[in-house]
Amino acid sequence: MDFMEVLKRRRSVRKFRQEKIPPEELQKLLEAARFAPVGSNRRQDIHLTVVQNPEILEKLAEAAVKRAENQALMKKLVEDVDVPRERKRLDPFYGAPAVIFISHRRQTLQPGIEYANAACVAQTLHLAACSQGLGSVLIWGVLEAMREIPELDHTGLLELPPDFEPLLGVAAGIPEIPVTERSRQPRDFSVNYLP
Ligand SMILES: Cc1cc2nc3c(=O)[nH]c(=O)nc-3n(C[C@H](O)[C@H](O)[C@H](O)COP(=O)(O)O)c2cc1C
Repeated sequence: MDFMEVLKRRRSVRKFRQEKIPPEELQKLLEAARFAPVGSNRRQDIHLTVVQNPEILEKLAEAAVKRAENQALMKKLVEDVDVPRERKRLDPFYGAPAVIFISHRRQTLQPGIEYANAACVAQTLHLAACSQGLGSVLIWGVLEAMREIPELDHTGLLELPPDFEPLLGVAAGIPEIPVTERSRQPRDFSVNYLP
């Protein structure tokens, strides 16, 4: 696939076929990730975890459910509105057959570089996924929620090496509807040119 075509086809996919990603396609994705740029080339600070076990994803998704409940509780306290008793089923991973978590070694030397690194890896994964006919979506919200619930032990569930923190996830799978090229609205990023 031509590079511009990959860029134009890439979109956030949130509906997946309930089929596993073929192992060789998953390997290709992980191989692509290795070509991502990393600050100071400290590649040893990045760790990827492939999760295909729905039970683990379900446990991690609990963080999003709890956060939504807390938000609903906050809303009730502030606005005195009725909160539905039933726990709303939330799947922050959209039923994707695989989620690749991007973790970074905790560090304070270069604040923020861990997110920049993780984003470079994530975008590389997205573009590779798209070029392979796979769909993907960046997962950020639930990872933030995971940190708010220490008893969830998300680093333990992900079996991370010591001192690593998961920052982003890329949920991937075979898209329910094949993706096609699209155009961008003109209201896109603003640009200024300096003479
Ligand atoms: C930093 C960042 C965080 C994001 N977090 C989430 C997320 O937690 N869940 C989700 O469904 N999409 C998430 N997205 C996907 C965006 O909503 C999506 O990229 C945006 O709406 C543009 O749509 P497109 O990807 O189809 O071009 C995130 C994207 C970025 C760049």
